[in-house]
Amino acid sequence: MVSEQQLRVWAPGRVNLIGGHSDYSGGLVLPMAVDLGTTIVGHRGHERVVLVSEDEPEPAEVALDVADPAAVSPSWARYVAGVVAEVAPPTGFIGKVATTIPIGTGLSSSAALEVAIALALVGDDRIDRRALALACQRAEHRASGVPCGIMDQFASLLGVDGHAILIDCTTFEVTPVELPAEVDVVVVDSGQRRSLSTVGYADRRAEVGRAEQLLGHLPTARLTDVEALDDAILRKRARHVVTENQRVRDFVSVLAKGDIGAAGALMTDSHMSLRDNQEVSTDALDALVGRLNRVPGVHGARLTGGGW
Ligand code: GLA
Repeated sequence: MVSEQQLRVWAPGRVNLIGGHSDYSGGLVLPMAVDLGTTIVGHRGHERVVLVSEDEPEPAEVALDVADPAAVSPSWARYVAGVVAEVAPPTGFIGKVATTIPIGTGLSSSAALEVAIALALVGDDRIDRRALALACQRAEHRASGVPCGIMDQFASLLGVDGHAILIDCTTFEVTPVELPAEVDVVVVDSGQRRSLSTVGYADRRAEVGRAEQLLGHLPTARLTDVEALDDAILRKRARHVVTENQRVRDFVSVLAKGDIGAAGALMTDSHMSLRDNQEVSTDALDALVGRLNRVPGVHGARLTGGGW
């Protein structure tokens, strides 16, 4: 079947206000969708998914029965293949991709790409956005090998204008949290580029998994049990998850009271724990957070995304 109707879909990137490296252990996270995003324009139909991108010299051409997304080339086509393999669209798609998200800066350009592809392939008013976000997360795992959590894809598909969203990564419950109108969320580029697949994201996830085997559901573990762990690395990772979970709760509650100073201080505490316990920061990010916190009018600062 070839549909003549042109489709235009858009998927935003995200910035994470607080709740870092806690989604994959079922913790609380508080990201917000941003106004930068990825657009796909084209037509459903055809027997393959063929996309050209403004940022890539080669197109992505993916068969509907693609079995191994990680083996596809060029490398950006792996994300297309991952989504095709996960959502199993009834027909293909021919179109164009363009994004306003700077790639590799921690604003989730890959999640926005996956979500835009999924919306182009199967999106309509009746779709189950949570289920689609989970399919996009699996697509990312298959495409890049990075065992990411659900935060980025949820933020892109379930973001609410003027709000951050509180995601409980155990129950997948999503609660919009209104942001005070007098506060600006400013994203500052450290200038450092990173690639999650070439660094220790999977190691962190595995370490957190080992701590979980010892303590059970980590976000609700007792800090006294965490501090009694023999393994110093697991102790730090678990300490991060437990304290970060509490910081997210506290952030939401001080924000509701309008205490922006306290919310900012929690963001900076979150950065310190990402630096010292989760060990995912860099000298450049630490220096930037320090510099920003000395700027009058700045309430708090932290790294966003996976780190490194
Ligand atoms: C990346 C992952 C997310 C999350 C963050 C860290 O953005 O894709 O799932 O784990 O890192 O908070």
